[in-house]
Amino acid sequence: MDFGIKVGTPEKQRGACAVIGIFESRKMTESAKVLDKITQGYIKSILTSGDMDGKVNTSLLLHNVPGTHFKRILLIGLGKEQEFKEKTFLGAINSIFSTLQKTAVTDVMLFLSDFPIKERANEWKISQTVIAAINSLYQFDQLKSKPENNPGKLRKILLCIDNRSELIACEQAMQQGLAIAHGMNLTKDLGNLAPNICTPTYLATQAKNLAKTHKLKASILEEKDMEKLGMGSFLAVARGSEQPAKLIVLEYQGLSKKEDPIVLVGKGVTFDTGGISLKPAAEMDEMKFDMSGAGSVLGTMLAVAEMKLPVNLVGIIPATENMPSGKATKPGDVVTSMSGQTIEILNTDAEGRLILCDALTYAERYNPKMVIDIATLTGACVIALGNLTTGLMSNDDKLAQELLAAGEQVADRAWQLPLWDEYQDLLKSNFADIANIGGRTAGTITAACFLSRFTKKYRWAHLDIAGTAWKSGKDKGSSGRPVPLLTQFLITQSKISN
Ligand code: BES
Ligand code: MN
Ligand code: ZN
Repeated sequence: MDFGIKVGTPEKQRGACAVIGIFESRKMTESAKVLDKITQGYIKSILTSGDMDGKVNTSLLLHNVPGTHFKRILLIGLGKEQEFKEKTFLGAINSIFSTLQKTAVTDVMLFLSDFPIKERANEWKISQTVIAAINSLYQFDQLKSKPENNPGKLRKILLCIDNRSELIACEQAMQQGLAIAHGMNLTKDLGNLAPNICTPTYLATQAKNLAKTHKLKASILEEKDMEKLGMGSFLAVARGSEQPAKLIVLEYQGLSKKEDPIVLVGKGVTFDTGGISLKPAAEMDEMKFDMSGAGSVLGTMLAVAEMKLPVNLVGIIPATENMPSGKATKPGDVVTSMSGQTIEILNTDAEGRLILCDALTYAERYNPKMVIDIATLTGACVIALGNLTTGLMSNDDKLAQELLAAGEQVADRAWQLPLWDEYQDLLKSNFADIANIGGRTAGTITAACFLSRFTKKYRWAHLDIAGTAWKSGKDKGSSGRPVPLLTQFLITQSKISN
């Protein structure tokens, strides 16, 4: 897919297809007016015919419109002009690309002035359009014997702005949108792959490939290395699996070595059966997505490397399966984490925190500016926030605010839950320093409380993406989230530290 930015209005353009916005009650946008003029009232005549009234989710494809150089014109309904905002913009963009995907259109031209949102500049519209276009083209057919029969034909998208002075900033926004979308595609592919293919070893190989193609440094720690480091908690989860666990470390250097890095830690459970605390059979296949945190770390590192962002970034991925077996960890087992704290494993299905805690301790050696972990950690988070919103908890309110703002900026939102000390009592164990589960209440918070015992030495935030990393049902598949949030956060950080 090719993207480009052009300065100009529709009368001077030519191409395969122009997209023109129409507001409700047949109110024309500026570009519609321009086209109407050069076509001697053709657009208006279509609108008065009643075939298109400008309501949200309506569209009309016109062919061979006299007096223009376009082969087609797609009229797209934008709803009420005074109610046009971010959400309607994103809806309109998605409907444009899903409509075009069903046609033979190869080249399309959009006029950004058609989409008036006061709070958002053209740069924002551009990066969001690029992300939406690439998302709408995404298909996962690697595992089908024949590719799907409806590949979209769209190849080229031109985004038109009126003001030449914005060109450079808009080009940069386009590059950022592309990087985010490429990162999301990698995250989606890894999530969607079958769990017999996407094993810890496979994730390690992907990390090494990423390092090769994008000049990162990859190191893979094996189980014997983890034993030496005393990662008794991580290894307790890996015990039941025939697949060797891996601790994957990727380093990206966009600044001098002297600058402390930001560290991302991603939960990489490539399949979560629950272990001896076995999960029920229904929808257990979806536990292949339990490595989505890991996938989002790799996707974000790809985006950052592609943008050559001036930040130092380390990605740490504890990768393992969680399986039942004769060797598997049992409820009641007590293990010693790398931090020295002992853990009573009351439920082997609360495995994410057990692998993350050792990875978080390992992160200390990077003297991090801050650490963000990303994990499909609790079913309780899906109950609390549904599938729209990522759960956020942090030991640093400024960091939390910055992450929330980044999510707002790229329509990949999170919501903060409290991490007050009072909740810590729920993790009391009679037999070890800490239990790996709280009671039935506040499951998302107690999971974060558990992690907080291992993050005292740095600024830390935790993203629970159990509800947002993938979609269930007929559109089952990875969402690529929270790559947009994380990448936007890092873009902003790279501006602060320079
Ligand atoms: N990977 C799951 C969390 C999960 C469940 C994510 C459903 C998305 C959908 C995690 O390892 C888990 O099993 N958590 C348990 C924790 C409990 C035993 C305290 C859960 O949420 O039930
Ligand atoms: Mn589990
Ligand atoms: Zn899990």
